[in-house]
Amino acid sequence: MELEGRLRELAAAWRCRHLLDLESLEANELTTLLEAADLFAEHFRRRRGKLSLLAGRTVANLFFENSTRTRNSFSLAAKRLGADTIEFSSAGSSVAKGETFIDTAKTIEAMGVDAVVTRHSTPGTSHLLARHLQCSVLNAGDGPHEHPTQGLLDILTIRQQRGRIEGLTVALVGDIAHSRTARSNIWGLKKLGAHVIVCGPRTLVSPQWAELGVEVAYNLDEILPRCDVLNLLRIQFERQATRPFPSVREYALLYAMNADRIARSKPDILIMAPGPINRGVEITPDVADGPHSVILQQVSNGIAVRMAALWLLLHSTRADDWVT
Ligand code: NCD
Repeated sequence: MELEGRLRELAAAWRCRHLLDLESLEANELTTLLEAADLFAEHFRRRRGKLSLLAGRTVANLFFENSTRTRNSFSLAAKRLGADTIEFSSAGSSVAKGETFIDTAKTIEAMGVDAVVTRHSTPGTSHLLARHLQCSVLNAGDGPHEHPTQGLLDILTIRQQRGRIEGLTVALVGDIAHSRTARSNIWGLKKLGAHVIVCGPRTLVSPQWAELGVEVAYNLDEILPRCDVLNLLRIQFERQATRPFPSVREYALLYAMNADRIARSKPDILIMAPGPINRGVEITPDVADGPHSVILQQVSNGIAVRMAALWLLLHSTRADDWVT
């Protein structure tokens, strides 16, 4: 099959067993992931059917935090590759009976699982699992630390729209302090040659972000005319003990993307958001649903990126590596 041949060529130099963060990936590994994702995206754009590249493999979703997009996207990605899936939620599980996170993960792995996809509110949990499990581990978000497949799907969407990443100016706007999406975007975009700006209120954007090689800005209107892409990050109220600004209305006044700000942007500006979006807070409904928005393309690309990650990690593992 042509698709499989092209995927195997791409995977020839692939050496990673896990996908834990974008910080530790090289630029060529990011490009391999993006190219594999493009192949899968193209396959489904042409309405070609479900694949059997991972038939006989099992992928477990181990989610200890809420999720709509990421969980369903990983699940669908595994199914479209022909793998079986296990859906685990901490609510209603033996976690409520006192079982530890690692024991739960080892129990699921012992059912013959090839990959564990995990989301947890504590940074470093997927790295911890990778040390304790034999199977592949994919990080679907570890607290405010990283969300590598979100970073990849954002970068894939920009690359599809602009044909490149190098030389583009991408602003991440909003709650940088609590955003795992921000960290994964920064690592990925910087390695591929973009200029990255982090922008938001001082209480959510520390000047220390500059140490990662990004520009730090507090005034959206000043940077707006230079930006090729805006990625609007949700204010993560659930991760904050105190309010980072006087009112949501004031935040919207200073940072929400609205029709007036679109008019002062580059004519081809891309408006992105990892979702869930809070209409009227970081983005107005007309902009979220308008011609510059690629928010739903990001969602579709999420499946392609997760297929690429699962396939690259699992294509060479053998059934006799399984833990019994
Ligand atoms: C993000 C997350 O959970 O980190 N959403 C997502 O995965 N699509 C961002 C958010 O919750 O705001």
